[in-house]
Amino acid sequence: MISAAAGFTLAVGTFVPAAGQSVEETYRDVCAGCHGETGTSEMEGIPSLGGQPAMATAMQLFLFREGRRPDSPMTPIAQDLSNNDLRSFSSLIEKLPPPEPLAEGRDDPAYARGKASAAKHVCRSCHEADYSGRQQMPRLAGQREEYIKMALAQYKSGERVGSSAAMNELMADISEAEIDDLAYFLARFGG
Ligand code: HEC
Ligand code: HEC
Repeated sequence: MISAAAGFTLAVGTFVPAAGQSVEETYRDVCAGCHGETGTSEMEGIPSLGGQPAMATAMQLFLFREGRRPDSPMTPIAQDLSNNDLRSFSSLIEKLPPPEPLAEGRDDPAYARGKASAAKHVCRSCHEADYSGRQQMPRLAGQREEYIKMALAQYKSGERVGSSAAMNELMADISEAEIDDLAYFLARFGG
């Protein structure tokens, strides 16, 4: 997917933003193809980024760069990013509009179950009452359902590690059925 877009130096699957190119141009040329022009992803398995707290984005880019979220399309992309690049992408992404939550299905039993589960596990104590995220805690409201499901399953299995073990520890007590309900709820929350 990373084509030899103008303004980029490509080397063994990695790239460095070209000198003189703005972070907006880099986002449009490289990131938008997967994450969407305005930060709302239309592609399965690819998270929406719009409205993510800058610190949460910087942390994830750091984890990709350091190989702590390996085997991801992001690993080579993040490889040659400097700390300054991490900051520039993060502040740009924070200003993109948050994704629109799914409107359909808010009356479904799965939504009510997910809401109850989120309340029981007090997800909002870290991710905020409106699930917009804070500091290194990502925004969850309106995120793609299958991406939330995948993230939670990976924290539970230990396949995904984070800036802390908070999510891994939390997921130990949460069943697969509950994961489905939480993802259902969060993808539709807000709006
Ligand atoms: C080839 C498609 C592709 C391109 C291009 C791409 N990404 Fe990604 N990105 C992904 C996928 C897939 C994931 C989910 C990775 C995973 O779970 O392993 C992801 C995850 C992320 C995350 C973590 C989000 C979260 O909520 O966990 C950030 C931040 C991110 N990308 C930023 C960027 C930036 C900045 C660029 C441009 C420099 C970019 N991406 C280019 C596919 C892409
Ligand atoms: C103690 C604080 C804390 C609590 C409570 C918490 N989280 Fe998290 N969560 C985090 C942190 C910190 C991260 C980022 C971790 C990392 O670096 O991967 C995160 C990441 C996530 C992600 C990955 C998002 C992405 O875009 O990559 C999901 C999904 C998530 N949490 C869902 C939940 C749900 C659902 C609950 C309640 C069942 C919950 N969290 C409760 C701290 C918390």
